[in-house]
Amino acid sequence: MSSNPQKLSGNEIRNLFLDFFAGRGHQILPSASLVPEDPTVLLTIAGMVPFKPIFLGQRTPEFKRATTSQKCIRTNDIENVGRTKRHHTFFEMLGNFSFGDYFKEQAIAWGWEISTQIFGFSPNNLVVSVFEEDDEAFNIWRDQIGVPAARIKRMGADDNFWAMGATGPCGPCSEIYYDFHPERGDDNIDLEDDSRFIEFYNLVFMQYNRDASGNLTPLQNKNIDTGMGLERMAQILQQVPNNYETDLIFPIIQTAAQIAGIDYHSSDETTKVSLKVIGDHVRAVVHMIADEIRASNVGRGYVLRRLIRRVVRHGRLIGISGEFITQVAETAIALSESAYPNVRQREAAIKAELQREESNFLKTLDRGEKLLEEIIQEVKQQGKTFISGESAFTLYDTYGFPLELTQEIAEENNLTVDEAGFNVEMQKQVERAKAAHETIDLTVQSSLDKLAEHIHATEFLGYTQPAATAKVEAILVDGVSQEAAEAGTQVQIVLDQTPFYAESGGQIGDRGYISGDGIVIRVEDMKKESDFFIHLGHIERGTLRVGDTVTAQIDRACRRRAQANHTATHLLQAALKKIVDEGISQAGSLVSFDRLRFDFNCPRALTAEEVQQIEEQVNTWIAEAHAANVEVLPLAEAKAKGAVAMFGEKYGDEVRVIDFPGVSMELCGGTHVSNTAEIGVFKIISEAGVASGVRRIEAVSGPAILDYLNVRDKVVKDLSDRFKVKPEELPDRITSLQTELRTAEKQLETLKSQLAIAKSDSLLDTLETVGDHKLIVAQLEDVDPESLKTAAERLLQKIGNGAVVLGSVPEAGKVSIVAAFSAEVNKKGLQAGKFVGAIAKICGGGGGGRPNLAQAGGRDASKLPEALAKAQSDLRSALS
Ligand code: ALA
Repeated sequence: MSSNPQKLSGNEIRNLFLDFFAGRGHQILPSASLVPEDPTVLLTIAGMVPFKPIFLGQRTPEFKRATTSQKCIRTNDIENVGRTKRHHTFFEMLGNFSFGDYFKEQAIAWGWEISTQIFGFSPNNLVVSVFEEDDEAFNIWRDQIGVPAARIKRMGADDNFWAMGATGPCGPCSEIYYDFHPERGDDNIDLEDDSRFIEFYNLVFMQYNRDASGNLTPLQNKNIDTGMGLERMAQILQQVPNNYETDLIFPIIQTAAQIAGIDYHSSDETTKVSLKVIGDHVRAVVHMIADEIRASNVGRGYVLRRLIRRVVRHGRLIGISGEFITQVAETAIALSESAYPNVRQREAAIKAELQREESNFLKTLDRGEKLLEEIIQEVKQQGKTFISGESAFTLYDTYGFPLELTQEIAEENNLTVDEAGFNVEMQKQVERAKAAHETIDLTVQSSLDKLAEHIHATEFLGYTQPAATAKVEAILVDGVSQEAAEAGTQVQIVLDQTPFYAESGGQIGDRGYISGDGIVIRVEDMKKESDFFIHLGHIERGTLRVGDTVTAQIDRACRRRAQANHTATHLLQAALKKIVDEGISQAGSLVSFDRLRFDFNCPRALTAEEVQQIEEQVNTWIAEAHAANVEVLPLAEAKAKGAVAMFGEKYGDEVRVIDFPGVSMELCGGTHVSNTAEIGVFKIISEAGVASGVRRIEAVSGPAILDYLNVRDKVVKDLSDRFKVKPEELPDRITSLQTELRTAEKQLETLKSQLAIAKSDSLLDTLETVGDHKLIVAQLEDVDPESLKTAAERLLQKIGNGAVVLGSVPEAGKVSIVAAFSAEVNKKGLQAGKFVGAIAKICGGGGGGRPNLAQAGGRDASKLPEALAKAQSDLRSALS
């Protein structure tokens, strides 16, 4: 039987973990983006990803110990999501890290301490695994921690040698499992049996680097990398049957169920799986878009698109016909915003992207329905009774038709579907996808390398021209070079010249259209690969061929937003130098259509006053209408003029200098307004620390301000509707509500205690006389510890000479016991403090106090009757 540790919310678990390690010298760092800095990794898959350069000795850490709660995405188990109790695409990994500081012994000791002391797991419910060759870890668990040898499992490299990927930092690991059924004994422990075990904490002894040929070389330092699964901890601690029913995810499932008009708990297994998939994937897509990933057909954009489509598909499966994804996303945002504020800040972008993808996909599904109708006609005409596996698969693969949907429609037409044939096609697809997954992005690279042999670098015209005529040099579909591509295809296009800016220097790439004779392509993103500008887009109409002459035209509204934000970033840097410290330097930046982010080196937080002064300074420069002076100069000359360069950045011999004379001069390849007045207005949204010595300012400027204000305005309007006051009266209203609440809470406390005391008076009827003494031992319902004490004191006063012991369960998982002894009882050698401490042990707690009055607590409410019975019999024998 499992013990019942305290029920904790997901947020509480996260905080307890971080606080525990902060209290042991670890710096709490914020979660890094899902988009890793490491270009060889598609998505952040573990808490250690941001620290890879530190493990490899390429970067010196600012702290020897760190702790994080890291958002992660893994897609290798996507087919298991919703079908097992614990697989996810998106999850949060809690981690404690040592960079050449403490190692195995300490990591294991803390791993045990936090599991048993903080999360309250009984040692009986824990089993650990170690790498088969790691005797040291085995011995630490057995000899220092005291885990019975039968509950320490030696496992092979597949399970207990952790590596981030085929190459990179790695090491043996030790995992801690929760055992839901210790009564099944230690003889046949099979850690794969997930009806009994769940792994919740992995301690990696990170000490090797694996190279491409598989050789291990010791790292400069021995490090610790750990990962505790937040959702799994929530499952265990909240005593729910799977991760999806925890408070981290279940509200999303409920929103989806509500839209579908169904009830989760009374649904069949298939429906539950769909709801769980939605619950899982919606969190993933919300966080991916929050971290600036956009849906596309390559790399992480493709992962995003696939997840969105799966949500829509499973929505259909449970009977939702229209658009619903933004509604479930709202629930996911609300659940995550306290730990990850960027989901709310990016709410508008998240919902817009989701809505667009969903509506496009629904259209594809509609086209699929038409195709299915045609297929059915044909099958009937041929006198057949079934739809072929190939057709069903085309519907699934190209039009996103789940097999179940095809089967349902087939049935309505008295037909069946060749399911075996469908499965064969599906298997082939899995093989193809596996091959493609390993080469994602890399294929683009190698095809481009080949192309580079016969096409020239793209000429960028976008500093001066919003549109240009150009020749199609190359078309790539899924990374493979093609001569032509048709409507409906997702493509990558290389032109000989282009006005489209490609993402670099923190500035987002342009959006827009490429058009030609009967051809329209929507450009959804821009990337630069070596010297090529790659237009990532969707062919809306016509067939595009290599050699075609086309018109490339950027979306000017988007560009205006990006360049307002980009110039504002330069002004912000200048203002920081002027107002805070000339020595401030840029540590990173991001310029998108809806906002800007500027990271800078600064040892302390800015004051509210400084932030305000900076904002005012930037707005003053905007109002003064400074014209831009853009020049290309030799690097040495630009530096001599005082242009600000980014530390560590490599520049060519010739550099572009963006100069707003007297205000700001920076080396920069981005696009900018020609006059600061075009920015209109600038507003700082937040100032916060991102790492030690690095601060981040987020701001909006130009047309994006309106979006920002609209979102804020909606919040204020909403609040003022809810509180039925004018917006300016909100602060007073909230203060008075808070005061009312506090008063009401106090009254409630008083009433509760009066009630407890009144109730306790009736206990005088149960009074027992032992020798010369009176004795009352009783359990009261729902009485808080303070009132319990008052009641005990009052009863003792009434009986005079004797002992009173009262117990209560004030809230789930808490036990309170009070003992009040008269002086005569003390004379018999009984001390209330010692007595109550011993009794509380039975309920898994302790406590004490004075000889005449003492109080103790415990956790196991089911043991309270036993504890009180013992109190009674002990007192009877001691006093008689
Ligand atoms: N990096 C380790 C894991 O992902 C902790 O399991």
